[in-house]
Amino acid sequence: MSPFLAIILLQGLVLVSAQAQAPAPAPTGPTNITAILTKAGQYTMFMRLLQTTRAADQINTQLNNSNSGGLTIFAPTDNAFSNLKSGLLNSLSEQQKVQLVQFHIISNFLSISEFQTTSNPLRTQAGDSTDGSYALNVTTFGNQVNITSGVVNTTLSNSVYSDGQLAVYQVDQVLLPLAFFRSPAPAPAPLEDKPKKGSKDPETSKDDTDTTTDSSGVIHGFNKLVFGVLLVGSIVYVVL
Ligand SMILES: *[C@@H]1O[C@H](CO)[C@@H](O)[C@H](O)[C@H]1NC(C)=O
Ligand SMILES: *[C@@H]1O[C@H](CO)[C@@H](O)[C@H](O)[C@H]1NC(C)=O
Ligand SMILES: *[C@@H]1O[C@H](CO)[C@@H](O)[C@H](O)[C@H]1NC(C)=O
Repeated sequence: MSPFLAIILLQGLVLVSAQAQAPAPAPTGPTNITAILTKAGQYTMFMRLLQTTRAADQINTQLNNSNSGGLTIFAPTDNAFSNLKSGLLNSLSEQQKVQLVQFHIISNFLSISEFQTTSNPLRTQAGDSTDGSYALNVTTFGNQVNITSGVVNTTLSNSVYSDGQLAVYQVDQVLLPLAFFRSPAPAPAPLEDKPKKGSKDPETSKDDTDTTTDSSGVIHGFNKLVFGVLLVGSIVYVVL
């Protein structure tokens, strides 16, 4: 193959990969969790977590999918976050932050009265709770709904939003799963984390294809471009 052809092919590849990074238009659905929480006020910390873990996008996608059974979200107030043991949030790995957010979300709509007939433990998006690590249990007394994770006891203090598909309830404590306190905890071991980044793990590969605009995406694209240019340069060098 002639060096020129090789260069043109490589440049084509670089262009394609740069285009794959271009931002897609934001989803325009009727229900937007960020808008709801912004309007309600006092949920800045929770909103930030929803965004950094990309849960906000997933929530909006689920809500705008007419086949979904709706969602119930327990939204801890900013006060709840500031009452956490200091440093706790920062000590969590990225995966644990995702699990923490998922622990506050139930994949179906629950009105206050429906809590009286749900069976324990509630199935949160944090998943399997057969050993109680991610159990969220409810006890009700009339319209009073208490929830416990085994670490935290709290009461649904206020209905922030409800439209028959999405229910958002205020909680005055961050719901911490027992899993975070069981030892030996899955401590963030760097040696185990690294292979996961490149693997086909659904969460991480979702990250790679996510098309929201953020600076890391731009940097990512830029790195590919630089890499492409270096590659072309070294091939030219070798060929000549
Ligand atoms: C709910 O929690 C409150 C406050 O901790 C407590 O007084 C009440 O008895 C609990 N109700 C139920 C049904 O467990
Ligand atoms: C939650 O409920 C289940 C089933 O009743 C029970 O086995 C478990 O111990 C409870 N966990 C907590 C933290 O209350
Ligand atoms: C939560 O409530 C249970 C049962 O009422 C009690 O045994 C436990 O000590 C409470 N835990 C916390 C952290 O308040």
